[in-house]
Amino acid sequence: MIKGFLPCLGGLLFAGTVLAQDLPVGDPDAGRKVASQCRTCHGLNGFAQIPIAPHIGGEPEDYLAAQLLAFRDGTRAHEMMTVVASNMSDQAIADVSAWYAAHQVTATLFADEADAPEGCVSCHGTDGLALVEGVPNLAGETNIYIATQLKAFRGGKREHEVMSSISTDLSDDDIRALADWFAAVELDIEPND
Ligand code: HEC
Ligand code: HEC
Repeated sequence: MIKGFLPCLGGLLFAGTVLAQDLPVGDPDAGRKVASQCRTCHGLNGFAQIPIAPHIGGEPEDYLAAQLLAFRDGTRAHEMMTVVASNMSDQAIADVSAWYAAHQVTATLFADEADAPEGCVSCHGTDGLALVEGVPNLAGETNIYIATQLKAFRGGKREHEVMSSISTDLSDDDIRALADWFAAVELDIEPND
């Protein structure tokens, strides 16, 4: 009923209208089966297999679910993920998010912590492992992925109250440097299977 008019208001007023917390409880074992549709790009354990896809193993469950809902309802768009998410049920989204979130991640920083980008570390950590609930890890994501997302936030293609304002004033050079910092971290994902 109410669903019909929400897309018109979408994005700005109700960013992420279908909320991750409204989903059914996710079952990681059922999610492992769903992940067979994701593995060519994200790996079965969430370690990405292609440079434009992010590592998703060990990301917060509610973050993963929120992104899949956003791809499904069109508030986040990507030629591959929009297609993938369009056919997913609420249960499949909950299950696959539980599966990928259940992995343990570790990050190894080879640079000096003191050089970490100041404006990012309070949430994303110096090594790109998030310090705040619901914030995604950036550790070891490719610089192409990180830069694409920062440009999407800057240009309004992807919206988030915090990240949209943080990226407004970033130059392309800033974005390159920030992406390089987090991309240089080595990420390990402990398989959960
Ligand atoms: C054909 C390759 C491909 C397949 C298959 C695929 N993905 Fe993706 N996925 C991508 C790419 C590329 C992106 C980055 C999109 C962007 O740049 O916004 C992405 C982004 C994501 C994100 C956002 C992560 C973040 O850090 O914001 C999630 C969550 C995700 N995919 C989950 C899945 C799940 C779950 C499946 C299986 C049901 C799946 N994907 C299947 C390529 C794929
Ligand atoms: C106050 C906390 C906070 C700060 C500070 C912050 N971020 Fe974020 N960041 C977030 C949140 C929350 C998200 C998830 C946005 C969403 O849900 O779409 C995010 C998402 C991202 C993403 C997308 C990740 C993905 O997997 O798709 C990138 C890239 C990113 N931030 C980079 C940065 C950089 C670079 C800085 C410093 C210039 C920064 N962030 C500062 C909270 C923060």
